[in-house]
Amino acid sequence: MPQNARRSERFVSREQRELRRELLVSPYPELGLVAMDGPNDPDPSLVVEDGRVVEIDGRREPDFDVIDHFIARYGIDVDAAAEAEVLTDEEIARRLVDVDCPRDQLVRLSRGLTPARLARVASRLDPVETMFALKKLRARRAPANQAHVTNLKDNPALLAADAAEAAARGFAEVETTVGVSRYAPLNAIAILVGAQTGRPGVMTQCAVEERRNLDLAIRGLVTYAETLSVYGTEPVFVDGDDTPWSKAFLGSAYASRGVKIRFTSGGGSEALMGRSLGYSMLYLEARCLAAVRAAGSQGVQNGSISCVALALAVPGGTREILAENMIAAWLDLEVASGNDAIASHSEIRKTAKLMGQFLPGTDFVTSGYSVMPRYDNMFGGGNYDADDLEEWMTVQRDWQVDAGIEPAAEADVVAVRERAARAIQAVFEGLGLPAVTDAEIEAATYGSTSRDLPDRDRGADAEAADGLLAAGTTSADVVRALDERGFTEVAEAIVGMQRQRVSADYLQTAAVIDAEGTVHSAVNDPNLYAGPGTGYRLDGARWELLQSLPYVVDPRKLLEEAAAGEPVVVEAGEAAVSERADEVVVAVGPAFGDALRATINGLSHADVLAALCDGIRAGGAEPRLVRVRRSSDVAFVGHDGALLSGSGIALGLQSKGTAVIHRSDLQTLDNLELFGMSPLYSLDSYRAMGQNAAGYALGHAVGPVPTMMDNYARAKLIVKTTLLHARETAAIVPGAPAVELRLTG
Ligand code: 5AD
Ligand code: CA
Repeated sequence: MPQNARRSERFVSREQRELRRELLVSPYPELGLVAMDGPNDPDPSLVVEDGRVVEIDGRREPDFDVIDHFIARYGIDVDAAAEAEVLTDEEIARRLVDVDCPRDQLVRLSRGLTPARLARVASRLDPVETMFALKKLRARRAPANQAHVTNLKDNPALLAADAAEAAARGFAEVETTVGVSRYAPLNAIAILVGAQTGRPGVMTQCAVEERRNLDLAIRGLVTYAETLSVYGTEPVFVDGDDTPWSKAFLGSAYASRGVKIRFTSGGGSEALMGRSLGYSMLYLEARCLAAVRAAGSQGVQNGSISCVALALAVPGGTREILAENMIAAWLDLEVASGNDAIASHSEIRKTAKLMGQFLPGTDFVTSGYSVMPRYDNMFGGGNYDADDLEEWMTVQRDWQVDAGIEPAAEADVVAVRERAARAIQAVFEGLGLPAVTDAEIEAATYGSTSRDLPDRDRGADAEAADGLLAAGTTSADVVRALDERGFTEVAEAIVGMQRQRVSADYLQTAAVIDAEGTVHSAVNDPNLYAGPGTGYRLDGARWELLQSLPYVVDPRKLLEEAAAGEPVVVEAGEAAVSERADEVVVAVGPAFGDALRATINGLSHADVLAALCDGIRAGGAEPRLVRVRRSSDVAFVGHDGALLSGSGIALGLQSKGTAVIHRSDLQTLDNLELFGMSPLYSLDSYRAMGQNAAGYALGHAVGPVPTMMDNYARAKLIVKTTLLHARETAAIVPGAPAVELRLTG
């Protein structure tokens, strides 16, 4: 725009939209601000000499960085590499979307591909193909979801209540973190107790610094961890005081104590940390994923994760994130597919991005759905939160897709929240921690955010947390405290989680634990999708559950309400053509005042008739009521009335309130005035219609009643319109003549 040029109001208006709060940039590959197919990304290469990988993606062994070394030694299957070598990128890409090429063949092939090759094959797929590949490659048969549970006050009663609600809503994992790191054991205990109150078998974690995290895991206060971050360039790894070996070692440490782990990576992190070395987000993420695979992790949370807004700032960012998730699944990793951090200010854009994971289904559709309002989200705000639950569940219902969140009735939610808050009160008492008060329990049960909770003595809590760690407190102490205070089932459920650690089935790929304690993983419940009729489909009892949302209404009930009460009109013989020149016929539809009693706007038919007659009389004409029985179409009702009217003018009226002023000499589908916005009309509107009809009857010059418009009327009322019209149409008597009507009142 030239300076001082006059602005278009429409451009100015769009600038006010939420989208424009964020900065979109053109690619800047040197800084890693390029989604995929970066100009500096290496061409794939893989050279094996005497069974030893000596070149990866253009780099010879002496020039390997730590990540190359790690992948070369532990990540590449040289037999699979030999198979992959003779295939073109296109051939491999085609196999990814070929329903007849089974997942296990693709997984095997993936082990022979270098990071640059994984990224380049992925870039051969368009978004829908990538979604399809992801659907095919997901490790576990059915998708699931993970919840985030935190609050600004680190209040234990609220944490427990939120964890319980998350568990009751079907989340398979619940993650918390801390505002203040010393709180870690208290928060871990709060969500452990809460989750097991909501549903036995839900896994929990408390994301804190690794040493403390591992300590909590060994004590049995958490049952999974996903804090093991990896990065795609050596300098970022080194900055994080880590190497792939140290991460792999840490992963084994957790596993050796029967704790499920997944790694974390995601496009954009290297650019954000200033050390992308000029490579694209997808190529660097492919390096991360190859390293995660090589480290022996069962899974990963990826899809940009906390860097999502950076990926979305560059062209193709949403597509890149989906490609990351797909590559992870291809490498046989469980995928917790992001959608946790705020991706955009724009609701349209956020949801458009979400569909990439939501529709194919991933092992965890979000890496943390905020079950509390955004205000209390300590992960930097949730992309979707408590206020979005109904929309999420409605979108599941719209697509008939399972994205891992179940409806729950308000009374059930309140009950489980209270029970969890009481359970944590018992645990705090049993462990000698600062008391959880009844006032906290009540606020945690019924309140919205931590603002509704009384303040705790933060210093005393932190001291108590330190003491608890020093005393060597474990989940066994939590179990004892619960059992001694009557929370036996919760105690049993926590013991059940410790049993899981011993049997360790839930360390298998993509494991979740059901309420009976049965593990569902890629080993015993794999995704065997091979085209229509195979794999997971949302159907049967689960589909019944996910469609029966608390705010879904039975249409039969609505119709019963519309027909309640006594009829307001009686029929009085066949209607004749009148000679009276000052007459306006008010012609109503077949169900008016009888099978139906009120308009869509809730006006009683008796009142509407009275208003119309008032208006007609005020205009100097005389009303006559008739019922048209042969049609429910307002044009026919009005025109039939006009043919009976001494003035040739009639006011046609459907039961739902739609009206027309008609004249006998007009074509049926023509009219003088049509009032199609029935939800907007008041009794005054009907009076004005009556008065206008009188004006036409007496031959005056009539100005039309001002037009009213509600652009949302259709979205809001199309169901009611359909129901009322169905009832009106059902009352039609084919070929029957119109009849005179009298008001009963
Ligand atoms: N790459 C690696 N680690 C990540 N995390 C989040 N996003 C990424 C990413 N793209 C890790 C960080 C962060 C936590 C939420 O997850 O450790 O603190
Ligand atoms: Ca998470």
